[in-house]
Amino acid sequence: MNIRLEQPEDYHEMPKDDEVPFFLAQELIPCYWGNREGTYCPPKGYFVADENPEDFDEYEKTFPKKAMSYNEGQLPPFAAKTKLIMQTARLTLRPWLDSDAEALFKYASNPDVGPRAGWPPHKSVEESREIIRTVFSGESMWAVEWKETGEPIGCVGYLPASVSNLRIKDDEAEVGYWIAKPYWGKSICTEALQLVIDYCFNVKNFNTLWGDYFPENPASGKVMEKCGFKDTGIETVCPNLVVGADRPVKVMKLEK
Ligand SMILES: CC(C)(COP(=O)(O)OP(=O)(O)OC[C@H]1O[C@@H](n2cnc3c(N)ncnc32)[C@H](O)[C@@H]1OP(=O)(O)O)[C@@H](O)C(=O)NCCC(=O)NCCS
Repeated sequence: MNIRLEQPEDYHEMPKDDEVPFFLAQELIPCYWGNREGTYCPPKGYFVADENPEDFDEYEKTFPKKAMSYNEGQLPPFAAKTKLIMQTARLTLRPWLDSDAEALFKYASNPDVGPRAGWPPHKSVEESREIIRTVFSGESMWAVEWKETGEPIGCVGYLPASVSNLRIKDDEAEVGYWIAKPYWGKSICTEALQLVIDYCFNVKNFNTLWGDYFPENPASGKVMEKCGFKDTGIETVCPNLVVGADRPVKVMKLEK
């Protein structure tokens, strides 16, 4: 599909030179748009509450009271706020959902996955759900969804300095990832990590990204290498929750 992306220069009454936090995406259909130009104006009705706040309050009171809630399957509020969804032709990076717990358990219970990254295999769907609600709930962790099936098949994200095990600066972050074993060797991790790198540099404005891996897990080093990370030669230690002790790691680095 051909798509045109542009920063709208004349959205409603916004000054043309203002930087805006959104863009327009428009499918290019031959002969559809032509040379037409226009200014998008939200309908007048959108502003009734601003123009007549008192009348609006009275009108609101005529409705039964409703509580705001967030249901399973719905994207968490921060997803809408921070526009966290990114995609390639075959992957969608999106926030984790409660409803992903079974798929997460299926893949994260495999003993060949977590221990390579220093965490123990998941033991139950309940544990996976809890991890979704805690470890994966922040705005810096994405589920890697395989578009063909709609299933989450991995996790990718970054850790800011405040929670990284590496001693890094405030304008730096550490990347992390894993992919379900049936999907290894298809460049999926490299593709997903590349999206997160672009996000970290262009949206979060980090200047340097770091990553580390256990020397006995060279595939992880290879993923970072394919994304442009360089071996720093630094060897430090990081907690390995599986063996319950710090273990040596190799440290890689990518400058903006
Ligand atoms: C590491 C991991 C994320 C890679 O995912 P993936 O989608 O298979 O990665 P990619 O296909 O993008 O790239 C993997 C690269 O490593 C290479 N590789 C695989 N096994 C390797 C090995 N034993 N030695 C060296 N390179 C290896 C692959 O050939 C591939 O490189 P290529 O494309 O040049 O052939 C996945 O194996 C995984 O989840 N492992 C367990 C968790 C983990 O290690 N997380 C990282 C913790 S630091």
